[in-house]
Amino acid sequence: MTVSDPVVEDVVSTISRTATEIRQGLVGRRGTVDEENPSGETQAEADIWADELLEGRLTEIDGIGEYASEERATVVDCGADPDGDAYAIACDPLDGSSNLKSNNAMGTIFGVYDAALPARGDTLVAAGYVLYGPITTMVLATEESVSVYEMSGGERRLVQSDVTLPEEPVVYGFGGGVSNWPDEFEAFAREIETELKLRYGGAMIADVNQVLTYGGIFGYPGLESRPAGKLRLQFEGNPIGYVVERAGGRSSNGHRSLLTIDPDDLHERTPVHVGNAELIDRLEDRPT
Ligand code: AHG
Ligand code: MN
Ligand code: MN
Ligand code: MN
Repeated sequence: MTVSDPVVEDVVSTISRTATEIRQGLVGRRGTVDEENPSGETQAEADIWADELLEGRLTEIDGIGEYASEERATVVDCGADPDGDAYAIACDPLDGSSNLKSNNAMGTIFGVYDAALPARGDTLVAAGYVLYGPITTMVLATEESVSVYEMSGGERRLVQSDVTLPEEPVVYGFGGGVSNWPDEFEAFAREIETELKLRYGGAMIADVNQVLTYGGIFGYPGLESRPAGKLRLQFEGNPIGYVVERAGGRSSNGHRSLLTIDPDDLHERTPVHVGNAELIDRLEDRPT
């Protein structure tokens, strides 16, 4: 099933083909380089390689004005004016790349913004991720709905449409480490751990995919050592918040939908909580 907007369809099919190549090319690229990305993180060889593949292909698409990624300090200007009729693409080329060492799931996140970057999440027209799990799948959210595709040979095959979070939450996963959580988040987590099953694997999209599949909540809160948390708004929080909100759930930075945050900086971090609306409401209602 193709996407109605031809530019978005072109982006999604380009990402489908490129993600297939990325997954195949992870073998032999599991090392790190002694470079840091704009967030000050050590880069994996595969982080840089995946970003270069995506940038090379996506900036060629007519109707794309900008490309930015977690691995790149500045926005790549592709000529057309995204405040005009062009879109801007933000990617996390490899989310969970530290899982390369332990051979656990990871993936590629993308967001298609109808605004110049950095942009609010509510300017997204599409967002999603490719999950490199036992099977390679793509979760794609558009203004219409959320769909799941299985990927093979660079093509995508629709396997589920109108995806919504299951009513009853089952799983939870919270990052950052208990010793680094502020007291009010720790109290919330203590409640949740008596109600749900722990599923945490160190790659946000793999953990979020469990929430999308079984219902529940994923969070990477603001930390005592780092009040803004670890995850980046443009490349991780907004696209995943868009997917989960389109699937009938909620997103939050602890106080409000991630999609309503006015960004100051391309690489700004934010606490990220996504999942069943009732659980996110409970988090936001806690005394801070
Ligand atoms: P990335 O590999 O793109 O830098 O993202 C890693 C993020 C996210 O995927 C995951 O939820 C989080 O880091 C895990 O952090 P911890 O290692 O602190 O659990
Ligand atoms: Mn990283
Ligand atoms: Mn990431
Ligand atoms: Mn990454």
